[in-house]
Amino acid sequence: MAEVRDWVFGIRGLAVGRRATVAPKHWNTGALEHWSTGTPKHLFHSLTEFPMRAVDIIIKKRDKLELTKEEIEFFISGYTKGDIPDYQAAAWAMAVLLNGMTPRETTDLTLAMAHSGDVLDLSGVVDIALDKHSTGGVGDKTTLAVLPMVVAAGLPVGKMSGRGLGFSGGTLDKMESIPGYRTDLTTEEFLEQLRTVGIVLTGQSADLAPADGKLYALRDVTGTVPSIPLIASSIMSKKLAAGAQGIVLDVKVGRGAFMQTLDDARELAQLMVDIARLAGRRAIALLSDMNQPLGYAVGNALEVKEAIDTLHGHGPADFYEHCLKVAAYMLILGGKAKTEEEGRAIAAHTISDGSAWEKFRALVQAQGGDVAYVDEPERLPRASLVESMLAPKSGYVARIDAREVGETAVILGAGREKKGDPIDHAVGIVVHKKVGEPIEEGEPLLTIHANDEARLNEAEERLWGAVEISPEKPEPLPHFYGVIGL
Ligand code: URA
Repeated sequence: MAEVRDWVFGIRGLAVGRRATVAPKHWNTGALEHWSTGTPKHLFHSLTEFPMRAVDIIIKKRDKLELTKEEIEFFISGYTKGDIPDYQAAAWAMAVLLNGMTPRETTDLTLAMAHSGDVLDLSGVVDIALDKHSTGGVGDKTTLAVLPMVVAAGLPVGKMSGRGLGFSGGTLDKMESIPGYRTDLTTEEFLEQLRTVGIVLTGQSADLAPADGKLYALRDVTGTVPSIPLIASSIMSKKLAAGAQGIVLDVKVGRGAFMQTLDDARELAQLMVDIARLAGRRAIALLSDMNQPLGYAVGNALEVKEAIDTLHGHGPADFYEHCLKVAAYMLILGGKAKTEEEGRAIAAHTISDGSAWEKFRALVQAQGGDVAYVDEPERLPRASLVESMLAPKSGYVARIDAREVGETAVILGAGREKKGDPIDHAVGIVVHKKVGEPIEEGEPLLTIHANDEARLNEAEERLWGAVEISPEKPEPLPHFYGVIGL
């Protein structure tokens, strides 16, 4: 190694007419490599003015060193512009996944991605720009019910949502079950609808946080999604770019979530709350269970129908509870409620007086959806094959594995194996019981909605492995594990 160092000093040191006589304490093979490849700006700050190079930033992260704000900004802007190719971004993302980032690096990454495109300023349109975000789950149709509740309570909300990927569903796919509903509003249309109707639910504009759009697609195919700093910066950059000032983060934990353990979910939640604070915004994170599907329905049109039922006051108890809590914290951030109890009462009232339903209907109409389909949800796309799986014995439901149910829904066609795949809005799975509930032999446990015999059979086989009936009564799963950032 000494030989390499001498050689390096001999060539590089003399070439620039300067020679570092004392190696920095953290020198290792990586640092030598920086030197030999030419851009050791972070190590030899005062000695060199070499231009930054992507490879040195990758090596630095590979060697567990902390990146500077300038290096992060250089990498993100270079990748967004196409100056840094996918293969270097993939290597960098893998180094981040393996070696992590400090909260400071993660905040700088978030801000760099948020500023990689347009940043919306909603201050001329709403008093406070509110948003919510779920980290992704199975049967999670919360936005469809919560947005109208919060808007009916007097806080206009314009929200940009995403599509489902893998086992986790996406709000846009669900809303597109409604014929005519547009999820591609322009920024002008978004602002105009927020001003005039007070509620918007559309896709993320390509002009907002384009770095995240590019990086997320790359992470999805390079095994680099499950990294806490990358997830936190991905989510928060979109929220910041969309102009959110108050954000409720619904951080899912369990089998059907990206975060499998409570510790990881807490870390992610705390990081996102801290990023919001450092960026001058406010976020509250709820840690919620995703071991079993939320509500009963999994699959796009089935979930729209369940959200409509909920807005009419007869949705599943766990889903309604979930919506009340998320809405309550949005109302707290928006200054309409001081406590969770107060927020819940206001939100519940928007259901009982029908005002939340009216807002949902107004949303569908404003975005070109045919309201006949939400007035009569039985008209929404329906599968041709509907088959129930009956309990083979009496007992208690001990397990309904959310991930297995989500992945089976993808097999049926409700989700995508890869970006851009078409989806079938009609198909999905309805679970009839929650964990902890009793079931009698012969009672329906799950119902499969399919449009293809072979997929139906495959789904059924898979789902038998996703459920368990036990003779002993298990503890019901909690809805929530805590609140961070109050
Ligand atoms: N959702 C996002 O928006 N980004 C991630 O990285 C993971 C989930």
